[in-house]
Amino acid sequence: MKKILFAASEAAPFIKVGGLGDVAGALPKALCEAGADCRVILPLYSSIPWEKREDLTPLMHFDIRNAWREQYCGVLTKKVGKVTYYFIDNEYYFNRYRVYGEADDAERFAFFSRAVLEVLPRVGFIPDVLHANDWHTALIPVLQDCEYCHREGYGNIKTVFTIHNIEFQGKFDPYILGSVFGLDESKKPMLFYGDCINLMKGAIETAHAVTTVSESYAGEILDPYFSCGLHHILAARQFKVCGITNGIDTDVFDPATDKNIATNYSYETRSQKFRNKKALRAEMNLPAGDMPLLALVGRLTHQKGLDLLRMEFENVMATGAQMILLGTGDAEYEEFFREMQGRYPDAFRAIIGFDAALAQRIYAGADLFLIPSKFEPCGLTQMISMRYGTLPVVHAVGGLRDTVIPYDPTTGKGNGVNFLTYDSGDMMDAIRRAVKLYYDKPNYAKAKANAMRTDVSWKQSAGKYLALYERI
Ligand code: GLC
Repeated sequence: MKKILFAASEAAPFIKVGGLGDVAGALPKALCEAGADCRVILPLYSSIPWEKREDLTPLMHFDIRNAWREQYCGVLTKKVGKVTYYFIDNEYYFNRYRVYGEADDAERFAFFSRAVLEVLPRVGFIPDVLHANDWHTALIPVLQDCEYCHREGYGNIKTVFTIHNIEFQGKFDPYILGSVFGLDESKKPMLFYGDCINLMKGAIETAHAVTTVSESYAGEILDPYFSCGLHHILAARQFKVCGITNGIDTDVFDPATDKNIATNYSYETRSQKFRNKKALRAEMNLPAGDMPLLALVGRLTHQKGLDLLRMEFENVMATGAQMILLGTGDAEYEEFFREMQGRYPDAFRAIIGFDAALAQRIYAGADLFLIPSKFEPCGLTQMISMRYGTLPVVHAVGGLRDTVIPYDPTTGKGNGVNFLTYDSGDMMDAIRRAVKLYYDKPNYAKAKANAMRTDVSWKQSAGKYLALYERI
């Protein structure tokens, strides 16, 4: 049985800040179901809800040396279903208000990365593959390559590094190499890029395989438009880079069992979905009527294409559709959408906040789901909305391009609506087509059925990861 250790800075259901948390929550589960022994290791943040960590079993503690610092490292464990979780405890680093954005993030995650390697023989789990994710754990393949692989027991461990978002690379002042990571000058070429230490670059250089979270994104990041400066590095290592499209946890995201929504429904009973629209409108105090309800749920940042929506907002309202937006993020967007709510009280609601239960009611209640992202490594919301029978309207980029097939009334195939260029006029055109499709009841029903039938589970992708682990 293949032994995999999945290292991540967040993992649902314990701690989730973004899509990485969903992946780290669902992929290991799917790998276990496919016959691997996949375990997960993550920091024991104080922000993990108490009910999720009150029953952890303490295993051991020891000290870890990172440069000149010697730090306490506790290890706790818990099994959920088939997946064993290990938690790295250190109050100084992880008892903070936030998961990310602390001034000493480099040191916090360097500590975690070293801890991951240090615990292996101590917990008696020497994996075949150590799978690291994004810059926070990028030091793992680097340390394995230059230090640990020479140690007894570590020689056969292979490393995989997954890029969930190339925008965040872990760039730091070069002094950090020795004084925080405890690496000597001879390791500088491995980690140095541009004028700084770049952890993601180090992982791309040293991991046995590099993956991204969709096939399209794997190609896109070779282009300077998407690569945030790393295209040269990736092009030189292309032989070991591949894209595997994410899935979603179909147990968690299931309209047939979802406790957050007004009326449960499945593919067979999808005609009942309208009850959720009714309930959502009542909750949002939006008037009833036969017009489509368009939704957007997500981080309000430049990545998500909100500039396009801001530019076209009046035109979106002019289509007669109602719209609900849920999310938090940059103040400029939050303020804009609050203002629009004041201007369009009968048609638009902006809920500036993070509310997972409301998000579910929106997936279930909306007719159309807008994702105009400028870039999207994979994207999860289009898959969730399809599972709930809500048609995604997306910019065909990254994972959105791989998962949303434009509906074609002449063939009856397709599960959403898309636009090909990052352009507000094109987005508007897609929204108009989607609104028109909504009124074309037989075709809308077909597209909705196709969306609900789309395989968004982890099954296929877990198989691809297993094949990759096998290969390396
Ligand atoms: C990041 C990306 C998103 C992807 C997620 C999980 O959040 O922005 O597109 O779905 O990681 O891989």
